[in-house]
Formats: sequence, C-alpha cells, structure tokens
Amino acid sequence: MRHLIDPLDLSKPETEQLLALAERIRSDPAAYQEVAVHKKLATLFYEPSTRTRLSFEAAMLNLGGHVLGFPSEIVSSATKGESVADTIRVISCYADIVAMRHPKEGAPLRASRYAKVPVINAGDGGHQHPTQTLTDLMTIRTRKGRLNGLTIGLCGDLKFGRTVHSLIKTMARYENVRFVLISPEELRVPDYIIKDVLLAGHIPFTETRSLEDAMPSLDILYMTRVQKERFFNEEDYIRLKNSYILTEEKLQKAKPDLAVLHPLPRVNEIALDVDDDPRAAYFEQVQNGVYVRMALMMLLLGLTDPKTEKKVALC
Ligand code: CP
Repeated sequence: MRHLIDPLDLSKPETEQLLALAERIRSDPAAYQEVAVHKKLATLFYEPSTRTRLSFEAAMLNLGGHVLGFPSEIVSSATKGESVADTIRVISCYADIVAMRHPKEGAPLRASRYAKVPVINAGDGGHQHPTQTLTDLMTIRTRKGRLNGLTIGLCGDLKFGRTVHSLIKTMARYENVRFVLISPEELRVPDYIIKDVLLAGHIPFTETRSLEDAMPSLDILYMTRVQKERFFNEEDYIRLKNSYILTEEKLQKAKPDLAVLHPLPRVNEIALDVDDDPRAAYFEQVQNGVYVRMALMMLLLGLTDPKTEKKVALC
C-alpha cells in the first residue's frame, strides 16, 4: 500500500503521471463524477485549514465518494490523550483513505506505519506539504508549459514554510532549475534543505535579502506568509511580518510572463492590486488543488479512469 508523506514518495514519472491525470480531469470533470462511488475519505485535521481540507473534501465529493472527519483537534479524542497511532487504527475501520494535517513534524509518517489504508500528509508542522506542491507543479506547468529550465524565486518565510521545503525538494529533480531564496536572515531555508537537497544535488541557488534585486531574473515568484503560529515569541513575528510586500510597482521590474504563486492564506505579503495582474496565478492554484487531489486519491485507491477504462495505479 502506498502513502504520500514526503513529496519524493512519488517518483518523477509518477508525479508526471499524476499531473497528466489531473489535467485530464480538469479538461472534463463531469466524466469523473462516479469514479469513487462508495469510497470514503477521512480528513483528520489537528491544525487549522481552509484550502487543503475543503479541497480534499471537494475532490472526493467530485469523484462521487463520501467524506467524514474532524476539522480541529479539540473536537477529537486527541484532547483526551488518544495517540495518533491509536486514532489511525480506528479510522482505518471507517474510511478507505485518510488526509492528515498535524502540527507535529512526522505525525502523518507515524500514522502511515499503523494505517490499514493510504495516508496523505496534508501538512506536518514546518516540515512538508506534498499535495500543495502537486498543486504548485500543475499551476507552473499550465502557465509555463514546462517544469524544466526555470528560475524560481521563493520569498518570505523560507524557514517555517513547509510548502517551500516540499517545492524545492520536488523542483530540484527537474533539469536546469535555479533557485533564488529571498528571506530575512532569521527566516532562511533550513540547513538540511540547503545541504541535503541543493548542495548534494549540485542545484544552482543564490540567497538574497532583496526582492527587488531578484525580480528581473525570475520565471516564477513564490510568495509566502510569515508563519505566525510557528514563532516562539510575538516580538520576533511583529518585527519580521512585513519583510516583503509584493506590489504592482515592484512587478514593473519583472518579466512579462512571470507567474506569481502563493500557497495562501495571504496576510499582507501580496498587495490587493496585484490580484488583477495577469501574472497573478494564486487563485488558479486553488482550483488546480482540487484536480491534483482527485488524481492523487484515484491513484492511491487504484480507481478506474473513465477516459481510458483502465485502473490507474502508481507506476
Ligand atoms: N495552502 C494551504 O495549505 O492552505 P490551508 O492552510 O488553508 O489549508
């Protein structure tokens, strides 16, 4: 049985296979509306979410299946002291597949070791967020027509931003990709990503404090929120929260075909006037998030693709 805990749990061909399926779904969603009849998704969210939980639920409903779960730790028996291991053994009796978000890094991995059904990491602490990365990849491929040969700027909270960590790990597998890491000193990409992914893979990257200096070279600009919930003290958060604010004025130095991504939620790091710029792609990301989650659940459950009339399975 396959789980998705880390973005590299999917090989590069499997990632391509998933994106191709998501694109088929996007081109004809009605064809997929009975693919998962009688299947049940459990969403176990120990941490707040709008997009990830609801897009998983929308994805299963779009496939004709059912959803159950809890949106917060406080309405679950975790508040009585139940462990993740016990909870997942219980939920395995109720559902065919599980999406779990947890504030503790590694909690979905632990769950997968006790589960009798596929477990998907829907975000674990400041660690990884693999399904956001699939969303990002689909959006980049749609906008740029490729995943190779891109200069990708990541800006903001690169320390705690789990979407950043997953995106770097995944995009580092593509040819001629270059990263520009734009952050305050305190919010730099963690050393393990620098050493184990970028340096070990001989991936070109630069670090800078200046969004303005980086802007002209970028094909993709991935903005992120400063992750208030991961700071130990509020003073540091207040000092750093306005480090980068993308405006239309700053975009004047950017390429005309730049794509601006953001995993959302946004606080103030992208000014509202950018929303009307054709380079803003963050609400497309939201829509693509539903298609990649439909494709992922089809692959993990081995469902039949009505377009090919064959069962899909990870290769
Ligand atoms: N992108 C993302 O993970 O958003 P939510 O926290 O709302 O799920």
